[in-house]
Amino acid sequence: MTNTATTVSESLDSRRSVRAFQDRPVDGALLRTVLEKASRAPSGGNLQPWHLYVIGGERMAALKAVMRQRLEQAPGGEDREYDVYPPNLIAPYRDRRFQVGEDMYGLLGIPRKDKAARLRWFANNFQFFGAPVALFCYVHRSMGPPQWSDLGMYLQSVMLLLREAGLDSCPQECWSRYPQTLGTFFQAPDEWMLFTGMAIGYRDESADVNRLRTQRARLDDIAEFHGL
Ligand SMILES: Cc1cc2nc3c(=O)[nH]c(=O)nc-3n(C[C@H](O)[C@H](O)[C@H](O)COP(=O)(O)O)c2cc1C
Repeated sequence: MTNTATTVSESLDSRRSVRAFQDRPVDGALLRTVLEKASRAPSGGNLQPWHLYVIGGERMAALKAVMRQRLEQAPGGEDREYDVYPPNLIAPYRDRRFQVGEDMYGLLGIPRKDKAARLRWFANNFQFFGAPVALFCYVHRSMGPPQWSDLGMYLQSVMLLLREAGLDSCPQECWSRYPQTLGTFFQAPDEWMLFTGMAIGYRDESADVNRLRTQRARLDDIAEFHGL
């Protein structure tokens, strides 16, 4: 299988959250082109409410080092600025979340009851799963849910364009556990709030975890058609 998408459908279908990357650099100019192209993403009122910090090279190495230490000091994270999930996740969302966990840890051969191994694996997030570059998406604190949804449109556009460039990604909300560390690292103004990180690089085809093909609800479960 060639690992570069040439149509939107191929980009969509071949995009997946990649959690093991090759030790292969990503061209900074290519990344800039992708981010620039993605700026054609729509946003309500054309606000374009996304603000990015993009890192690679020495800065990436520095953040990984910071995080190795930070995870030791504060394994439970810092004061969260938003809840990644509602506190009482209801069905069917709860079941979907459970299923993706089972499928991923199944591929990794980590049983449900081995909480320590699951936590060790989870910590790989903070080394970007070995990816050489990453971005962090911030939003102004004054923005509300409609603008947060705009962020998703921008980020999905980035992920699809990355596929067209032969690259892969993993969006990483887990970084919302360390907003203070990241704010200090980027010297982000107080009015900017972190939404998510994203690891970017070339997928490691040999890694079992990258075989994960997550399930989706059937169309009839998520859409109701009226008049057609
Ligand atoms: C905004 C966002 C944040 C996410 N955060 C994480 C994360 O912190 N760590 C992780 O391993 N996966 C993360 N994911 C990946 C999801 O688990 C994944 O998108 C979902 O299970 C569907 O699988 P797929 O992306 O392979 O199609 C995130 C996805 C999104 C859209």
